[in-house]
Amino acid sequence: MVYKRVDGRAFDEMREIKAEVGVVPRAFGSARFSFGSTTAIAAVYGPRQLHPQHLQDPQKALLRCYYDLASFSVAERKKPGPTRRSYEISKVTEWALAPVVMLENFPNAVIDVFIIITQADASTRCAGINAAALALAHAGVPMKELVSSVSVGKIDKQLVVDVCKEEESYEEGEGATDIPMAFLSESGKISLLQLDGKISPEELKKAIALGKKAAKKVYQEQIKALKKVKE
Ligand code: CDP
Repeated sequence: MVYKRVDGRAFDEMREIKAEVGVVPRAFGSARFSFGSTTAIAAVYGPRQLHPQHLQDPQKALLRCYYDLASFSVAERKKPGPTRRSYEISKVTEWALAPVVMLENFPNAVIDVFIIITQADASTRCAGINAAALALAHAGVPMKELVSSVSVGKIDKQLVVDVCKEEESYEEGEGATDIPMAFLSESGKISLLQLDGKISPEELKKAIALGKKAAKKVYQEQIKALKKVKE
């Protein structure tokens, strides 16, 4: 039997995307990004001088990302504070964004990006990266390109785009494989690729092609959100 998506989506269909900038007025830049009920808010502070001084790099700014799930974002209350998982996601978020941010323009500075997940229904790191890229652009931080992120899953034998929680936890047949990825908007380069599960090299290529196509749609929504602010 072929896997049918729990919410009736086509295999290459993402959940409804909502993107908006300027949601945290006191920040240098901010954004909210949703895939269906998965929602991330990002706020950027900086570039500003980095303290303590011994952390400063005279060649470039430091990009620091902080990812966290709000306690109320998941069905079973999440204990406040950082976890191994949040440290990992903060790091991969930094690595996904750093290639596009012109850090060399700001020696000795820091750019802090805070990401809070207010509702979690899987693919939160992808929503967080999309919100963070938008918030950086909204803050006027010079960037070479934008970053757009989406997850591709293999649920039983079927590749699907934008994995939700029920799919992520699928245990029948071959189970679930989750592949969050991020693409740079102009060069198409990959700045995030993680793999939780099993997949053959041929299928991984197909998954990346699906993700790349979906990321272009994410990019269009990000651009729409940025254009609205100028109106
Ligand atoms: O969210 P993402 O898919 O990027 O990362 P994950 O570690 O694979 O987590 C998948 C999902 O598990 C999250 O999006 C949440 O819906 C859920 N989760 C949870 O319910 N409680 C946690 N403490 C962590 C994750």
